[in-house]
Amino acid sequence: MAATSPLFDGGQIFHRKALAERLARQVLHVSPTSASSSGLFLAAPRRTGKTTFVRADFAPALETLGARVIYVDLWADRKADPGEVIVAAIRTELAKSEFVVTKVAKSLGITGAKIGSVDFSLDRVGLGKDVSLVQALAALSDDAKGPIVLIIDEAQQAITTQTGNDAMFSLKAARDELNAAHFGLRVVCTGSNRDKLAMLRSSKDQAFFGAPLIDFPPLDEGYVKWFCDNTTELPAKLSPEVVTPLFREAGNRPEILGAAADQLRFDLALEPGDVERRFSQLVEEQIAQANDDLLEVFHSLTPIQSAVLRVLAAAGKGYAPFESRTMEKYRLASGGEPGDGELSSANVQQALAALQEKGLVWRASRGVYAMEDHSLSDLLRREGYLEGL
Ligand SMILES: Nc1ncnc2c1ncn2[C@@H]1O[C@H](COP(=O)(O)OP(=O)(O)OP(=O)(O)O)[C@@H](O)[C@H]1O
Ligand SMILES: [Mg+2]
Repeated sequence: MAATSPLFDGGQIFHRKALAERLARQVLHVSPTSASSSGLFLAAPRRTGKTTFVRADFAPALETLGARVIYVDLWADRKADPGEVIVAAIRTELAKSEFVVTKVAKSLGITGAKIGSVDFSLDRVGLGKDVSLVQALAALSDDAKGPIVLIIDEAQQAITTQTGNDAMFSLKAARDELNAAHFGLRVVCTGSNRDKLAMLRSSKDQAFFGAPLIDFPPLDEGYVKWFCDNTTELPAKLSPEVVTPLFREAGNRPEILGAAADQLRFDLALEPGDVERRFSQLVEEQIAQANDDLLEVFHSLTPIQSAVLRVLAAAGKGYAPFESRTMEKYRLASGGEPGDGELSSANVQQALAALQEKGLVWRASRGVYAMEDHSLSDLLRREGYLEGL
């Protein structure tokens, strides 16, 4: 069992302790030749266990090595501004220590006696406020007397708003300040999509320029074995040899296996000799069901939304929404002849906004668009919806 952490409720999961320790060491390691003190970016597809790993294994491993961990999930409240969510997490951490609150209050010229009364509120900490994130994190660092690791889950959301971008820049300034004159700050970002995460670090005007971006390893055979050992109440045990290829086919998503096992438990006529065959069948059904659910949303789109989505999915990284070439493709995709039709930039803009509202399209604040979920692009391609685009 991993060390208990306030971030994890202790539910039954397969722990990845060795991986967590290795990553934690790398993140905290100070080396003159490494850029990881700039931060670390971990990418893995949707529903493959990033959040579970970060909360249940990675955060405790960092704490064991003496770091103070602040965890922020930018998807916890989809309506909240990601910049505000980051600020709120830092305020919450500040509030835990009277020493830090006192220090921050003093920096505002408020004397100790008044702290806790109306004179000082943590609302005064934030972007463009009396106490900057740099000052706040520096005070936290002096209190912790050890490194602080800020983990930002679904970090790509940070660059979808101006406040989010501002927060990332403040964190960069805080990182430089804490690494130079206090006890160090590491920023670890996770996300479901490599290209989007890369935008946080790929250009010189981005806050975490040059920070390493790694593909977070999917759950391995160890997980499959754990799954088989813990899937009890069946007439016969499942074997890892049978389940491993199914798990890969399911895109390494534990929920697909879990749902198939749940159905199997309720199959009261099941004979021991049939367990594995039936389980394979159910996994295939779950995969098909997950795909159908994705396609159902796709089929509910208006013709222009569908055209815009398919052109975006086909173009990938090179998508330029309003170029004349792209406009031709929308026409083609909506079944019109190239050159005809009433498609305008305004229509496209509207369709993109609607797609964003439906959670299908992601938009960085500087106007770069991407698919929210890449598995939908893959599915549309496999189903032939992207042909000729
Ligand atoms: N190590 C594990 N052991 C058992 N189950 C796991 C493990 N990791 C993930 N799961 C299960 O897989 C599902 C997805 O996990 P999680 O939410 O951590 O993935 P994610 O990659 O963060 O997803 P999202 O892309 O939605 O943020 C959850 O139901 C979780 O319980
Ligand atoms: Mg997650």
